[in-house]
Amino acid sequence: MALLAPLPASAEEYAPGEKLTMINCGRCHVVSDKDRMAGIGSTPSFAVIRTWDNWEDKMKAFWTYRPHPAFTQVEGMTAPFPESRPSPIHPIQLTLAEVETIVEYARTIEPADLGADLGLK
Ligand code: HEC
Repeated sequence: MALLAPLPASAEEYAPGEKLTMINCGRCHVVSDKDRMAGIGSTPSFAVIRTWDNWEDKMKAFWTYRPHPAFTQVEGMTAPFPESRPSPIHPIQLTLAEVETIVEYARTIEPADLGADLGLK
């Protein structure tokens, strides 16, 4: 029996919006199990955000919540970065339609089972 090493995820295996989300949010957030080991430890994973009752409101306006205003531009929604405070990192630049695509992708993410993580189940 031939043993095949797992192949790297190819473009076709990405769900709609997954790539856009990984490129823009995956620098800090764990977005899907394709980047389970990436992300910044102190940043909530999208699966954790999905457990919040207000996850959709938060996602739809993510650029208004810190730390995002410092590095995010949403077309027609945000003012340009102040000249004295340019984005400290490569900025996120999105249209509202792209934000909506990210929200729709987030809807497909299975909320984390936090009870299981804590050994409560
Ligand atoms: C440079 C790092 C970074 C990037 C890039 C980033 N985030 Fe975040 N995000 C954070 C951190 C850190 C927090 C936690 C903030 C806190 O707990 O105060 C956070 C929190 C959030 C929250 C919860 C906000 C709240 O106050 O409850 C949402 C929603 C969110 N991010 C959405 C996104 C989306 C959508 C993207 C991509 C379009 C994204 N983030 C890109 C760092 C980032």
